[in-house]
Amino acid sequence: MGIAKKNFIITVDGPSGAGKSTISKKIAARLKLIYIDTGAMYRAVAWAAREQGVELADTSALEQLLQNIKIRFQAAGEKNLVFCNHQEITTAIRTPQMDKLASAVSAIPIVRKALLPLQREVAKGCSAIIDGRDAGTVIFPQADLKIYLDADISARARRRLKDQSESRAIDLKSVTQAIADRDAADSSRSHAPLRMADDAILIDSTELTIDEVCEKIMELVRTRFEICSDEADNE
Ligand code: DC
Repeated sequence: MGIAKKNFIITVDGPSGAGKSTISKKIAARLKLIYIDTGAMYRAVAWAAREQGVELADTSALEQLLQNIKIRFQAAGEKNLVFCNHQEITTAIRTPQMDKLASAVSAIPIVRKALLPLQREVAKGCSAIIDGRDAGTVIFPQADLKIYLDADISARARRRLKDQSESRAIDLKSVTQAIADRDAADSSRSHAPLRMADDAILIDSTELTIDEVCEKIMELVRTRFEICSDEADNE
C-alpha cells in the first residue's frame, strides 16, 4: 500500500536554524514527496532585486520584478537546486547578506502576495512537504499535517555556525545575534508573521538529532495517514 490514496500536504514552519529544510528534505525523500522551500523563493526575490539594482522601497520597480520573475526548483540527489530567471542561485542565496535581505523582502506585502500563488502552484496535484514560516497558517491552512519545529536559540546558532564555518570566518556571538534579529523581524512583521498554527504539532529539536526528529514526524505520518509500509518504512 502507498502512503495515501489522495495527495496530501505536510507543512513545516519554525524559526531560522531549527532544522526545517534538512528534515523536510529527508522526509520528502522517504515518502517521495515534492519538497518546497518557500524561504528560497524569498531569497530568490532578494537576489533578483540586488542583481537588477531594485530598491525595496521602489514599489513600481519591485512590482515589475515580481511580474517577470521565474523561480524554479530542481532536485539533484540530496541537493535542491534553485534557479531564478534561468540562473542557478543555489549557493548565491545562502550568504549572511542574503539572509538579511530576504528577511526584509519577506516583510513586503506585494512580495508575499506575488509568491503565494507560486507556492501553491508548485504543490498542485502532488503530495508535498513545504518548509517556511507561514506554510501552515497562510499557504496551506488545510494541510493534512502541520509541524512547528523549534529549538533554543543557542542550539540553532551552533548548527548555523557548523553549516557556515567551512566557508566563512564567523563567530558564535555574531551568528546568535543575526538569528535573534531575524527571529524578531520574521515574528513581528504585520503580514503573515512567523507563528505556530493552532492545529500544528510542536517539535522541539534542541536535544534531538536529525534522525530523531524525522522519526517523530514519520510516527505522526503513520498515525495520521494510517499507512504502513513501503514508502513509510523504506528508506
Ligand atoms: O527559511 P529561510 O531562512 O530560507 O527564509 C528566508 C527568509 O524568508 C526568512 O527571513 C523568513 C522569510 N520567509 C517567510 O517570511 N515566509 C516563508 N514562508 C518562508 C520564509
